[in-house]
Amino acid sequence: AMQLAYADRAAYMGDTDFVKVPIAGIVSKEYAAVQAKRIDTSRSIPSAEMSAGKPTGYESAETTHFSIIDADGTVVSNTYTLNDSYGSAATVPGAGFLLNDEMDDFTSKPGVPNLYGLIQSEANAILPRKRPLSAMTPTIVLSDGKPLLAVGSPGGGSIIDTVLQVLVDVIDFDMNIQQAIDTPRFHHQWMPDHIFWEKDGLNEDTRTAMEAKGYKFKPDAGYTPGDFFIGDAQGVMIDNSSGDRLGASDPRRGGQAIGY
Ligand code: DON
Repeated sequence: AMQLAYADRAAYMGDTDFVKVPIAGIVSKEYAAVQAKRIDTSRSIPSAEMSAGKPTGYESAETTHFSIIDADGTVVSNTYTLNDSYGSAATVPGAGFLLNDEMDDFTSKPGVPNLYGLIQSEANAILPRKRPLSAMTPTIVLSDGKPLLAVGSPGGGSIIDTVLQVLVDVIDFDMNIQQAIDTPRFHHQWMPDHIFWEKDGLNEDTRTAMEAKGYKFKPDAGYTPGDFFIGDAQGVMIDNSSGDRLGASDPRRGGQAIGY
């Protein structure tokens, strides 16, 4: 840890009246987590290998969702994506952004799973001017014609199930938006024919009863329940009685609810 801190000191620090020191990046928890992964507790790492990090500020590798509601009740629900991390890994020279790799959302071959394990058909085949099928589900719910809530999430194929469960929890189980987002989730995307679930998402009794009915749970589907989470929902809601604006961020990954 000391080697890493001093390597950054050597690379970035000087009088802030003269140089721009990336202080926000250096002190961020996300950067600390990235740096911590460089420490190998089984061996001493030569300082030549412990070069300065890149504290340029944290940016999630994931699809991003934001939900906004203003004092007048204007609502925005926006999900945007590069698809896979870093998209196609190609940048536009001089423009400063990455190009996506959304072609994976098309059916490249019927019956063959895409990046998110989703199997698709000819209906989603690649054609000029056609848009690929997306799981993104930016949602606005109205009640008696007036905005009630907005929500959405990243998460590839599981986005649809994430938003569904938040909506069911608010509408059918009377939770507020934060409770609905916090509640553990599960996910079944037809194929593979099993249920992914989060730690505490289904108690042992429920799972056993469902298994007796033939439902399949696959803890080893590339994820360990407990390490695995489904989606990262961000929502806003208007409280029925007070009219207060409620902002809710998913504790799973670390978004934020802010007011103004
Ligand atoms: O539009 C879709 O369904 C995918 N491109 C979404 C990818 C995604 O959510 C990845 N990040 N978590």
